[in-house]
Amino acid sequence: MIPHETLFDPTLYRNVRKPLLEAETLPRWCYTSEAFHAGEVEHIFLKMWCFVGRLDELPNPGDYMAVDLPGGPVLIMRGRDGAVRAFANTCRHRGAKLLDGRGNCRSGVVCPYHSWTYGLDGRLAGAPDMAKTHGFDKTRYGLEPIRLDHWAGFMFVNFAKDGPALLEQLGDMPQQLGPYRLEDMVCVKRFDFEVKCNWKFLLENALESYHTATVHRDTLGEQWAEDVETTGDWRAIFLPGEKSVSVLPGEMPPFPRIDGLNGRAAGGTYFTATFPSTQFACAVDSMWWLRMYPKGPGVTLHNFGFCFPKSAVADPDFERKAEPYFRRWLAGALEDNLISEAQHAGAMSVAHRPGPFSHRERAVHAIANWLLDRVLDRPGAPQRVVGHPAVAPRRRQLGTRRSSRS
Ligand code: FES
Ligand code: FE
Repeated sequence: MIPHETLFDPTLYRNVRKPLLEAETLPRWCYTSEAFHAGEVEHIFLKMWCFVGRLDELPNPGDYMAVDLPGGPVLIMRGRDGAVRAFANTCRHRGAKLLDGRGNCRSGVVCPYHSWTYGLDGRLAGAPDMAKTHGFDKTRYGLEPIRLDHWAGFMFVNFAKDGPALLEQLGDMPQQLGPYRLEDMVCVKRFDFEVKCNWKFLLENALESYHTATVHRDTLGEQWAEDVETTGDWRAIFLPGEKSVSVLPGEMPPFPRIDGLNGRAAGGTYFTATFPSTQFACAVDSMWWLRMYPKGPGVTLHNFGFCFPKSAVADPDFERKAEPYFRRWLAGALEDNLISEAQHAGAMSVAHRPGPFSHRERAVHAIANWLLDRVLDRPGAPQRVVGHPAVAPRRRQLGTRRSSRS
């Protein structure tokens, strides 16, 4: 067993830092240790922009969504002025969580404990039986604001009061995914799962096609993805193919291709790891996301959202036409959840040892190294292991593009 105080010693990770075909996977404690998980929360989830949902899911004043992040529950609301804001989802009296799920609170947010009431802009509007409290001043007890920004309709929040802007974190994602016109899409459905595995197992699984011939042999079938060069805090693989992969093989997609789709995007599907823990899957006619927020090292809230162009959603026959998409998405999700739980169960073995990578797992290796760049990056700690040229600086690129077939 590695003592907790040495878990972040870079020398423990020499084999992860080697070039792909010489490297090994992360040690098991990266997936199972409470102490390692606490390091991830501190150095990743409390410092980065975390995806929460779509602007189009909150069209009206008072619309809200509550999202449980590793840094705590967050409440996102649209105000009477049309602005969308994020707040810590905790009452300023004795801290009760205010809201769950999604809905509308046009008349304000009422705490379920002692009925303190907040306006849609977070200001404390009412606090019964507080008049005798010395110096009580309602203006000091508004909801705690959390930074919120958005790109192409996707909202992100950040617990850090300052730090890099969202677009800096996203790097060249807006350029590469721009042709899909994601800002013109609408989220039409979500699925939620609580999966008994570490969040990284789900993220890694989402970024390699090596498993598809086995895990999805009876549904999606085998896929061969290419690696994509990226800049910023994201990685991607690309699955070439003119036909949408949003429906099962053998079925014809009922919706047309996205208007004006061009460049690389016109020829297939991007699967991203949008750090810290989201995937955007952009197909030629639709997109879906996988959002994976840990509740601890061994449990992950896995949220799926499905989006279509507004023009498709306006089709009077939309519900019937969309059904094959939901069927495909659910089939893939259930299979990936199950295999990720099996992987976590295996990692619980005290006899578990790191394994080697296939050439088809370049992005998984990149995720592991990105993670180490973040969690080992602390004052006084060396950031990289001398003598291992595979260890590149932060925000490094995934590497040269290459086909998995080669
Ligand atoms: Fe919210 Fe008391 S905890 S009103
Ligand atoms: Fe899969």
